[in-house]
Amino acid sequence: MRLIDGKAIAAEIKREIAEEVTQIKAAGNKTPHLAAVLVGHDGGSETYVANKVRSCEEVGFHSTLIRYEEDVTEQELLACVERLNNDPDIDGFIVQLPLPKHIREERITEAIDYRKDVDGFHPINVGRMSLGLPGFLSATPAGIVELLKRYDIETRGKHCVVLGRSNIVGKPVAMLMMQKGYPGDCTVTVCHSRTKDIKKICLQADILIAALGVPHFVKGDMVKEGAVVIDVGTTRVPSDKTKSGFKLTGDVAFDEVAPKCSWITPVPGGVGPMTIVSLMRNTLLAGKKEIYS
Ligand code: GUN
Repeated sequence: MRLIDGKAIAAEIKREIAEEVTQIKAAGNKTPHLAAVLVGHDGGSETYVANKVRSCEEVGFHSTLIRYEEDVTEQELLACVERLNNDPDIDGFIVQLPLPKHIREERITEAIDYRKDVDGFHPINVGRMSLGLPGFLSATPAGIVELLKRYDIETRGKHCVVLGRSNIVGKPVAMLMMQKGYPGDCTVTVCHSRTKDIKKICLQADILIAALGVPHFVKGDMVKEGAVVIDVGTTRVPSDKTKSGFKLTGDVAFDEVAPKCSWITPVPGGVGPMTIVSLMRNTLLAGKKEIYS
């Protein structure tokens, strides 16, 4: 079993981005600028957004954090999106999800100018990805394929089983894994809460991507010998061993599963750090107007 070290790869990519930002600044060009909109005080969202802002500083971007209380109206949030769409200094921005129940997430996502949608959630970017056209790829799926690429893990002709059908991970990662060429060319099966006999399907997986958000769902007897296992789960479970009072728990029962794998991502330190790096890369591309002019 070999560990896929997302933390190390993410650090490497951050260095690459930082180097490019130095060159951009030295040439007298505009510093890439990411804005993040955070609504309410959800612990997970607070941590994720703080990490995104810190990563911006690390690579040399400008960043702006815009906060709203839980009771912000959809109208107010749409007005904020409109301001960011029209602000020439903002290259890209994200609205951290989930949003409070009274706000329709799809209304917000669709209001974002797709040319600034560095999360890759806008229907235009999702559609372009499905067609294999250049666009902003959503961060977690992009991070996963980047890990497979950097470790030179074979995907061509493999059976990839994706657990989960969310719009931000399951569906797009399934799409990327079936895309023509490397890293892709997989035969993909997507499983979800209504799938019958998940264990039987998982046992057929050469590459298993777990993105259900159910801690330790994938057990040792669900994984084929030699499989590649990618754990996207990051559920915060209470812990008295950490300062924060929480620990991040993956969808894979690591201790049982790891001995059977050829490659496996740990939690934390696997897919998580790659997600933020993908957002940084999209922001760099947005700043350089490399995808959309
Ligand atoms: N919530 C969980 N993951 C993400 C993400 O990648 N982007 C945004 N905006 N919200 C999220």
